[in-house]
Amino acid sequence: MGCKNLVFAVNGQRFELSDIDPSTTVLEFLRLHTRFKSVKLGCGEGGCGACLVLLSRFDPASNQVEEFTVSSCLTLLCSINGCSVTTSEGLGNTKDGFHPIQKRIAGFHASQCGFCTPGFCMSLYGALIKAEKTGRQKPSEGLSRLTVSEAERAISGNLCRCTGYRPIADACKSFAADVDIEDLGLNTFWTKGEDKEVSMSRLPSYNPSKDIRVFPEFLKEEVKSWVGSGVKRCNWYSPVTLEELQCLLEPHGENKPNMVKLVVGNTAAGYYKESQNWDKYIDIRHIPELQVIKKDKTGIEIGAAVTITKAINELKGFSDWLCNLDSGSIFRKVANHMEKVASAFIRNSASLGGNLVMTQRENFPSDIATILLAAGSSVNILADSKHEMVSLEEFLQRTPLDPKALLLSVKIPFWESKSSMVLFETYRAAPRPLGNALPYMNAAFLAEVSQCDSSNMICINSCRMTFGAFGTHHAVRARKLEECLVRGQFLSLSLLSEALEVVKETIVPEDGTSCPAYRTSLSVGFVFQFLIPLIDSTATITKHIGHCNNDSFKDIAHDGEQTAEPQLLHGKQVIEVDGEYCPVGNPVAKSLSTIQASGEAVYVGDIPSPNNCLYGAFIYSTKPLARVKGITFSPTLPKDVVISIVCFRDIPIGGENVGSGGIFGLEPLFSDELARSAGDRVAFVVAESQKLADMAAEAAIIDYGVEDLEPPILSVEDAVERSSFFEVPSFFNPKHVGNFSEGMAEADHKILSAKIQLGSQYYFYLENQSALAIPDEDNCMLVYSSTQVPEFLHGVIARCLGVPAHNIRVITRRVGGGFGGKSLKSMPVATACTLAAYKLNRPVRTYLNRKTDMILAGGRHPMKITYSVGFKSNGKITAVHLDVLIDGGIYPDISPIMPMNITNSLKKYNWGNLSFDFKVCKTNHTSKSAMRAPGELQGGFIAEAIIEHVASALSMEVDAVRNVNLHTYESLGLFYPGAAGCPEEYTVPLIWEKLGLSSDLAHRFEAVQEFNQWNKWKKRGISRLPVIYEVVLRATSGRVSVLSDGSVVVEVGGTELGQGLWTKVKQMVAFALGSIHCDGPTNLLEKVRVVQADTVSLIQGGWTAGSTTSEASCQAVKLCCDILVERLSPLRDSLREQSGSINWEMLIQQACVRSVNLSATALYQPDFGSMRYLNYGAGVSEVEIDVLTGATRILRSDVIYDCGKSLNPAVDLGQIEGSFVQGIGFFMLEEYTTNSDGLVDAKGTWTYKIPTIDTIPREFNIEILNSGHHKDRVLSSKASGEPPSLLAASVHCATQAAIKEARRQLLSWSNLDGTDSPFQLGIPATLPVVKGLCGLDSVERYLKWRMGRN
Ligand SMILES: Cc1cc2nc3c(=O)[nH]c(=O)nc-3n(C[C@H](O)[C@H](O)[C@H](O)COP(=O)(O)OP(=O)(O)OC[C@H]3O[C@@H](n4cnc5c(N)ncnc54)[C@H](O)[C@@H]3O)c2cc1C
Ligand code: FES
Ligand code: FES
Repeated sequence: MGCKNLVFAVNGQRFELSDIDPSTTVLEFLRLHTRFKSVKLGCGEGGCGACLVLLSRFDPASNQVEEFTVSSCLTLLCSINGCSVTTSEGLGNTKDGFHPIQKRIAGFHASQCGFCTPGFCMSLYGALIKAEKTGRQKPSEGLSRLTVSEAERAISGNLCRCTGYRPIADACKSFAADVDIEDLGLNTFWTKGEDKEVSMSRLPSYNPSKDIRVFPEFLKEEVKSWVGSGVKRCNWYSPVTLEELQCLLEPHGENKPNMVKLVVGNTAAGYYKESQNWDKYIDIRHIPELQVIKKDKTGIEIGAAVTITKAINELKGFSDWLCNLDSGSIFRKVANHMEKVASAFIRNSASLGGNLVMTQRENFPSDIATILLAAGSSVNILADSKHEMVSLEEFLQRTPLDPKALLLSVKIPFWESKSSMVLFETYRAAPRPLGNALPYMNAAFLAEVSQCDSSNMICINSCRMTFGAFGTHHAVRARKLEECLVRGQFLSLSLLSEALEVVKETIVPEDGTSCPAYRTSLSVGFVFQFLIPLIDSTATITKHIGHCNNDSFKDIAHDGEQTAEPQLLHGKQVIEVDGEYCPVGNPVAKSLSTIQASGEAVYVGDIPSPNNCLYGAFIYSTKPLARVKGITFSPTLPKDVVISIVCFRDIPIGGENVGSGGIFGLEPLFSDELARSAGDRVAFVVAESQKLADMAAEAAIIDYGVEDLEPPILSVEDAVERSSFFEVPSFFNPKHVGNFSEGMAEADHKILSAKIQLGSQYYFYLENQSALAIPDEDNCMLVYSSTQVPEFLHGVIARCLGVPAHNIRVITRRVGGGFGGKSLKSMPVATACTLAAYKLNRPVRTYLNRKTDMILAGGRHPMKITYSVGFKSNGKITAVHLDVLIDGGIYPDISPIMPMNITNSLKKYNWGNLSFDFKVCKTNHTSKSAMRAPGELQGGFIAEAIIEHVASALSMEVDAVRNVNLHTYESLGLFYPGAAGCPEEYTVPLIWEKLGLSSDLAHRFEAVQEFNQWNKWKKRGISRLPVIYEVVLRATSGRVSVLSDGSVVVEVGGTELGQGLWTKVKQMVAFALGSIHCDGPTNLLEKVRVVQADTVSLIQGGWTAGSTTSEASCQAVKLCCDILVERLSPLRDSLREQSGSINWEMLIQQACVRSVNLSATALYQPDFGSMRYLNYGAGVSEVEIDVLTGATRILRSDVIYDCGKSLNPAVDLGQIEGSFVQGIGFFMLEEYTTNSDGLVDAKGTWTYKIPTIDTIPREFNIEILNSGHHKDRVLSSKASGEPPSLLAASVHCATQAAIKEARRQLLSWSNLDGTDSPFQLGIPATLPVVKGLCGLDSVERYLKWRMGRN
């Protein structure tokens, strides 16, 4: 076996390495050892796509290059020997010019914080290359061979938390050969209504022959010279024969066999995080037996190292060739199901064998095992030098595969029978329809059926009914069920009914599995779906069976239901640009979005580490209340890893143990002797690399003591019992409206003490918390932090170290998504780094891993609400009272503002009289913090829940109840004193009507009713609701400096989080400086650069929060510009007098010569009387639920939102769409749960499911209402960052409406009249929650009803 260096190329640059730790991933190498930082670490487990690269592999034998995307966080560096890696910088960059993908991403406004953007570029790039190889017809100029549907699917594995995906999808589809460019959304290339061809010609050109990078020639030559030899490098081995492999597997010397790791794609490491070091890594991909694809008349054999992507392609190809044969259909369905396994970039490197082995050994909830088991597959194993062919069923049942044993291949047999027809279907219920989510359950059924000539009835001759991933060791065949179905009886309702009873007895999840009853009900639903068409539509089926194509069942569905094909994403954006304050008000592209796409934009983690830099990781408590007696490390941690453990004892004399602080109090940096929550920071362990620091933190063992301690407070009820509350300063106490008792006295009906419970939500910014602290001269510290609040962080660090504030300098260039989570919660991260740097006198940095970030984050406030409401018979509400228990966690953070925020949006309806009692509970949970619309999101929902309840009690249409309770201008003034503005500013009634018309609401209400009448297993609901949201402007500073060449540098207090602050500020500076009216065509917008926030350069920056920072920053720089214009005007006049005309550059040149002060600083202080104002909007959503699985599909959402006069409609549109989609996450998907000690147990992308492109509204229409002049606003603009998230409650309410229909139907099956008891749809409305309300036994009840009827 040869011993060679590792050679590969990155963006055409050759790398040769001799000494590599074989556990190094491609991401670690790129980020730590190259200048290519576009690969971002979002999750480290294959679940987000932020780290994608394109891998190109040259095969000297065929002279072909194979190209595919992979997640660099899982791909091991040693496995890319001879490969060429392309990152987004390699596609295009500032120096060489940007790639059309990057330009189109920017032009379609598809990047906000930009952290996810390079990953999306790579997914699209991979898809373009794949399409190019299809040999499809040459597309028109500027387009590719990609189809729109492929373009949409290409990005289904990538996560974005900012944009809401629609603009990214548009940018991708702009490359598709079959795109209708009128379907594409707002962009900078053309304006709506322009001639299609003209529009097309404006797109940045795409030409595959130059825009697809070629494999480096030098590498081809090298690869050719390596042919035929296996490789050993450090502890990495790449055998090319089975014999070589077996030799390696033999224990030599002290190598114990279990210290050998066989590797194919290494994607299993995303699930089973590894901490151990292996003696040998054996890459088994080069062994021909493991790469075999053999097709013959007995079936198809696929080598174990064949990737899932390749297996899919082969199966599809084979099925096309087999055409109408039963096996063709089986192979195609297996392939189709496999396309929902993980995401494309995982399937590209993940192997079939790897999947089966991790399933067999570790009980991984596999899809592949289930479907292959149903298809009757067998596996070829090599153990103890013996080949053995066993059925997959037996393989799965055996004891875990020996580490020395090898899975060689899988064989899927042919299924053809002369006397019967073979039917095959696969099923899957998962939070995301297109994949990138493990299923709650999967199933696959194969049945050989024949029909009775005389009756046309169908009989099952044999079958394989398999179920998996439901809380079982591995996929299983339900033998009893099979026996029940093949007893020679014709299929009938009673046989089906009997079979379903067997299913329920058989498919029982193991103890400890979540939602066990739901999973069992899924199994019933799947079997029902498979068999009912055979009973109900015999004649049609017979026809199809004749063609051996059971795909036709898809259209038949049950009882003649029609199921719609998944619809592609589309939408309309309506904006109005009036040019009054040009360029303010123009939809200009986001500043620096091209460098975000290329990955050149610098985040804290991209700043190169200074010499001698150390890395830290938090050790946190896993107990809610316990003494910390000491910290030790697991003996498996190598001795020299830990350099230091920093804890409260390291706070210097004169300093304080403070890690964050706001107006309501301070939070310690570290727990002292007592840890007060699971997730409390106990210490910060410092090591030579982030990997080692994380490993040490993971290996930390805290010695706890709980003797003499009171039990922790882990619920709001406990807090009430023990009177454990945070004080709410009177200024933050909301005021009651009217008199509740009097309002109740007026009511015709009352609902008393109804309850609502709301959980938490995690930020899931793509960039985790990060900071870098560098000691400077004279006891000073330079701190780079990804924070929303540099000024306050600065103060906290100074206080912690006990040094004057001028010793500290905090710099924030940009933040990779914040959503409130990088305000107070960013502070301890940067403070810990600074304290460690101070202690060790060396630079210290950290980038939290996703799990730690999730555990420390706190997130949105959970709460319990009890309400009483009085109302008239026409739905008019006369009084509401709320008792709200808010879980604030252990430290105050921003919790005392919650009562005010909750009532802020709750007051969107005229409740007549409103009273409340809020208790902000102090519990032993991590402190909860601000998250986009903190409290307002919950308040808006509580309002809707009350409305829904009233409507249900009166059996009225909910929309009518909403209508009758909308505010008049007069009632608005009562509920929002001092913020309501003048009558014409109140636009809700206008928006309400407009939305009714633009969304065709009346007609769609009818269409939904009709749909529900004709469909049993799919139900639809539609819901419209308003938003009223009060925001407050805060003081902030700005500085504008004009340099001698006329270019302009701008500093603002606010930080750029992706919300477009810099873009709006640039526009404002160009507008305000433009008022100097120089002569000539200077484009001031292009001359302006906004630079990082730096707390010693510009002070009093304030908070970047509450949706108003952009407008406040704009106003601050406008004040600066006004000062400059005033200083420059006399000079302009005199120069113009002298020379007739004066352009900008000459003016500035002369101003420099004459020492005019060209830098101006201002602090914007909003006027107290008008600093609070209201934002308005409304949204309508239509959803479809699957009564059998509980899956919800958002068919359409329409939003009209009043931005005043938008400062930049493209940016505001992005905010509206992005916050709406984040709201969908809260209402429908995201489960931020804890264990019984309060420790967060959703640890990453495997269990925490933010929306993806397949879970957003299929049709998404946004109109930004330009409501004209608002004298007290910044150039008449209004906020857009948070309020639209509340409109996502329309999706939840529509789901509730659809469930109501399902329940009505369920009652009718029980022969009860449609009087359903009120129910409340929980949040998030996940599949189990929806299904639970639709009836876990809906199938059984239906069958009973049917049988009773027959
Ligand atoms: C984000 C993500 C989402 C996923 N979603 C799904 C999903 O929805 N459904 C699903 O079914 N799967 C899912 N998977 C699992 C995925 O299919 C497996 O991770 C993958 O197939 C493993 O293949 P690999 O080549 O990467 O294996 P590796 O990680 O290289 O190896 C896995 C294990 O198998 C051993 N091994 C590999 N090949 C052999 C062999 N031939 N003989 C003996 N031992 C061997 C290795 O030593 C290792 O222990 C997901 C994975 C990820 C990362
Ligand atoms: S960081 Fe690699 S997929 Fe998320
Ligand atoms: S732009 Fe996608 S995560 Fe921020």
